[in-house]
Amino acid sequence: MTRTFDPRVFQLGYVALGVGDLPRSQTHYCEVIGLAEAARDSSTVYLSVGAEHHNLVLRNADDKALLHLGYQLKPETEIGDFIRDVEAFGLSAERKTDSQPGIADLVEVVAPGGNVFQFYADASIGPGFRRTGVAPMRLGHVAVITPEAGKLRAFYEDFLGFHYTDDIGGIATFMTCNRDHHVVNLVGLPQSRVHHIAFELSDNADHSKACDTLAAAGLPTLWGPARHCAGHNLAGYHYDPDRVMVELYTQMDVYVPATGIYEPRPWHRQNPLRPQSWRPEQMTNWETSFGFDLVTA
Ligand SMILES: [Fe+2]
Repeated sequence: MTRTFDPRVFQLGYVALGVGDLPRSQTHYCEVIGLAEAARDSSTVYLSVGAEHHNLVLRNADDKALLHLGYQLKPETEIGDFIRDVEAFGLSAERKTDSQPGIADLVEVVAPGGNVFQFYADASIGPGFRRTGVAPMRLGHVAVITPEAGKLRAFYEDFLGFHYTDDIGGIATFMTCNRDHHVVNLVGLPQSRVHHIAFELSDNADHSKACDTLAAAGLPTLWGPARHCAGHNLAGYHYDPDRVMVELYTQMDVYVPATGIYEPRPWHRQNPLRPQSWRPEQMTNWETSFGFDLVTA
């Protein structure tokens, strides 16, 4: 289904996680994944893939937690108008000035299921790519488990203007605000947590380098790398030190909102390929199987 209006946001800017051991998590994300520290205070570090001020926020917490997601608004957005629209949609919005480094002005919205969003139009540039460790190109998407998946999907689609791009068994729903197959994956289950965060690699050769880097750090690759059916991304998954699942991927399907189809690829089994419902057992386009169950992870 094509949306009747353009998405209000164009990318996932950052994910904020509560972590049990901040120095341990920072060491992992900086030395193994290759992110750069952009800023810090007593309880929080702001890490960047390179180009943007921060893409991952780590905050000391008693238990691991998904704290909030940061989405970047289209540049021409008037913050006052955006707040008015949030309130007209039936949610409250809190404007925060100088609440975090790199982002002077943002709007915080608590969406269904207690999911916290931060929306901002402008951010400082990042500290630059470090080209060490896994060295991803960008933060690409997040998968969130929530008991309020239906209401949260409505917020993404009806308010933010995301496009539905696929689902798996009606349980996992993929949506996008740009040309990536998905920027968010909502999983409807009676839990509230992050399922995984995903960084894009520059090409498939990086998968083997990344797996070697992770193995050298004592972190096994749990699933893949293999090509998914929904999204057709070549994806591999591992746990970070808090057992938050992290995906590294390349070659994700490119969605063309104007046509409602994906750019064709040789590995597609349908032509044209359109958004659809995949069966839960269709986890890999190659029909490979792995001991680690990605569905129940
Ligand atoms: Fe993913």
